[in-house]
Amino acid sequence: MRAHEAGALHGDIGSRPAWLRTPGDVNALVPQLWPRNVTRAADGALAVAGLGVRELAAEFGTPVYVLDEDDLRSRCRDFRAAFPTEDVYYAGKAFLCRAVVRMIAEEGMHLDVCSGGELATALSAGMPPERIGFHGNNKSLAELTRALDAGVGRIIVDSFTEIDRLTALARERGVRPRVLVRVTVGVEAHTHEFIATAHEDQKFGFSLAGGAAAAAALKILDEGVLELRGLHSHIGSQIFDANGFEVSARRVLALQAQIRDARGVELPELDLGGGFGIAYTTQDDPSTPQDLAKRLRKIVDSECAAERLAVPHLSIEPGRAIVGPAMFTLYEVGTVKDVDGIRTYVSVDGGMSDNIRTALYDASYSATVASRASTAEPMLARVVGKHCESGDIVVKDEFLPADVQPGDLVAVPGTGAYCRSMASNYNHVPRPPVVAVRDGQARLIVRRETEEDLLALDVG
Ligand SMILES: Cc1ncc(COP(=O)(O)O)c(C=O)c1O
Repeated sequence: MRAHEAGALHGDIGSRPAWLRTPGDVNALVPQLWPRNVTRAADGALAVAGLGVRELAAEFGTPVYVLDEDDLRSRCRDFRAAFPTEDVYYAGKAFLCRAVVRMIAEEGMHLDVCSGGELATALSAGMPPERIGFHGNNKSLAELTRALDAGVGRIIVDSFTEIDRLTALARERGVRPRVLVRVTVGVEAHTHEFIATAHEDQKFGFSLAGGAAAAAALKILDEGVLELRGLHSHIGSQIFDANGFEVSARRVLALQAQIRDARGVELPELDLGGGFGIAYTTQDDPSTPQDLAKRLRKIVDSECAAERLAVPHLSIEPGRAIVGPAMFTLYEVGTVKDVDGIRTYVSVDGGMSDNIRTALYDASYSATVASRASTAEPMLARVVGKHCESGDIVVKDEFLPADVQPGDLVAVPGTGAYCRSMASNYNHVPRPPVVAVRDGQARLIVRRETEEDLLALDVG
């Protein structure tokens, strides 16, 4: 990890990553990075579902998150087709608003929420409660009460305290909530440390190795107040390698067999979480949902056969793989600065307040000049924001045309997941809107925050 409190990547001066090749054509779009309906139109500008980005910027301003609605819907359909007998929970933490709740509900998805706010958004958009799963390592009493009163389909319990809280609430109400036990399986997913969640030393779930996961499952079964439906494992995010899922499935199904041997109960469900990687740059090579389904099923089938278990009803929880590639962020360039022949800094009108992932996870992104095609040579650039942090970097390294200039629009693909949902008001910069485009029509689905919104909270 090279990020540094005082500003990222000091060791990288002037260098570029080995995978970043000089493009033959600086205007070319690499299809796997962009929503399916994004093209470079005849005028040289990007268009999404037939609508030009200059028109979008003129109507909605910049920065703006642009959602290709048909792309998002088609990714839901691809997952549903690949997992037809399983349940696919869209992980709402990636990005949630009412319009997206309706889209994923219409496409037959379930929904995973992890706070009262996400639950409220889902319910207010009419998501059937029985298709909602509720996650979180510190759900409050108020959140659990709301989930029970709404009749959510399942609660993924994460601590003994929560089991006790939920048991008390269920007794009071005379209901029998369905729960899964979140198991920490001890897998180090090959991903950034902060988004690898199944190794032992962390806040999520019950440890498998230490025996807490077995104890939690047996406690629930013995008390008989909550209905234990199964086990849950989520090993991290932006994972490309199926080996982590294989080890996790093996360990969690061994626990399933242990529970059967101890209590004679075969749990009917198993959730293997999300975390399926997407392409942010040309170095990433994601699997298709079909491929994932084949590999996950094979792993589960063979582990169940080895443990002599019936294959449980499977579910998964992709967030990033559904919404990540369906959106891009459109910025306007404000300044272009060549720093002593080391690097050219292209400053845009947003930054770490609309995309914290680069600063937080050292994430890599791509970018292109979106408002026109250029005949200039490719130039290695860094796209930075307008915030008071030298680590305020949006795209660490990218080839942009050498004539990039103030007033150009720059588009950054792959910003659907964990960008708007993690956005902040740092430097009192209002958060950008989200515009959904379909069949040449743009629809505002989250409006731009205003300075009035910010001042309305400031009641001192
Ligand atoms: C329990 C759980 N499920 C699913 C997800 C979704 O992960 P991704 O968006 O990488 O698919 C997360 C992400 O943090 C998670 O914590």
